[in-house]
Amino acid sequence: MGMEGSKHQVLDYLRRHRGEYISGEELSRQLAITRTAVWKHIQALRREGYRIDAQTRRGYCLLGTPDCLYPEEVAVGLKTSWLGRQLYYYDEVGSTNQVAKELADNGAPEGTVVVAEAQSGGRGRRGRLWLSPPQKGIWFSLIFRPRVAPTQASQLTLLAAVAVAAAVRKYTGLPPGIKWPNDILLGGRKVCGILTEIKAEMDAVEYIVQGIGLNVNAEADDFTPDVRPYATSLFLELGRRVARLPLFQEMLYQLEKWYERWQEEGFEPVRRAWKEASVTLGREVAVNSWREVTTGVAVDIDAEGALKVRTAGGEVRRFTSGEVTL
Ligand code: BTN
Repeated sequence: MGMEGSKHQVLDYLRRHRGEYISGEELSRQLAITRTAVWKHIQALRREGYRIDAQTRRGYCLLGTPDCLYPEEVAVGLKTSWLGRQLYYYDEVGSTNQVAKELADNGAPEGTVVVAEAQSGGRGRRGRLWLSPPQKGIWFSLIFRPRVAPTQASQLTLLAAVAVAAAVRKYTGLPPGIKWPNDILLGGRKVCGILTEIKAEMDAVEYIVQGIGLNVNAEADDFTPDVRPYATSLFLELGRRVARLPLFQEMLYQLEKWYERWQEEGFEPVRRAWKEASVTLGREVAVNSWREVTTGVAVDIDAEGALKVRTAGGEVRRFTSGEVTL
């Protein structure tokens, strides 16, 4: 067993005896490692943010775990059966979407998740930047391999918004609104963005990488002045810090649940839930597609997730991509 493995065993043992003091001797005997090794692991765990009390004669006691998205923490109490069971963790990375695409290109299975405490080059839609300061949010990407045609892939972008909104609502009690296609708003400001990237043949999807960025404990100063008026975080909305770990687990659970439902029942349940949480439908909107800006009333989304807008002239236009201003 390597150093990392026995460190996890020390952590596991302390976790299973939470609140109790365990002697260095017991740990050394139970895990068949030296007491020096036990002490080294304790110090390493403390550097990772675990609060471990050490008392002469009594031993070690686990007092608290850090609010980090370590795979071994995520796995404890995770309710999914396949999503996030394969989890790649980074303290800092350029972009989790980039990493996920490389993994997918190399055959990573459906359900693989990449998460980072910070991103140095987080990317948003339309080539924009996504601010991802350390531990202020949940920055992660998922790999899906649905057996659908590329035209149906856009359904997955709406699905992700439905799942994340459900997790946020369940966990904070706040009422998230979805702006087409998949921005999640609180109090009219964006709290979460989703970047869906697809690799496909003409008639079949090879994989879809979905990158989700949720602002959790970001403060006003964490946003640049240009986005500050339009951005928010759970912290800013609730006035208190939010533990990221259980929220991340809930998001993975909701994503898996909705994905399975989509595969079994098709798009209709997703569409219904999306419409319920929508802040776009029924409103006067401006849609900026690549070529032009169209204004009108957002009337519906169709079976492919496209947005239908009725212009002043009464004509209904359909958008499969674009940027909506409310
Ligand atoms: C948007 O512009 O609304 C989409 C933002 C998506 C941000 C997430 S954070 C995790 C993943 N990695 C990235 O580089 N982007 C996505």
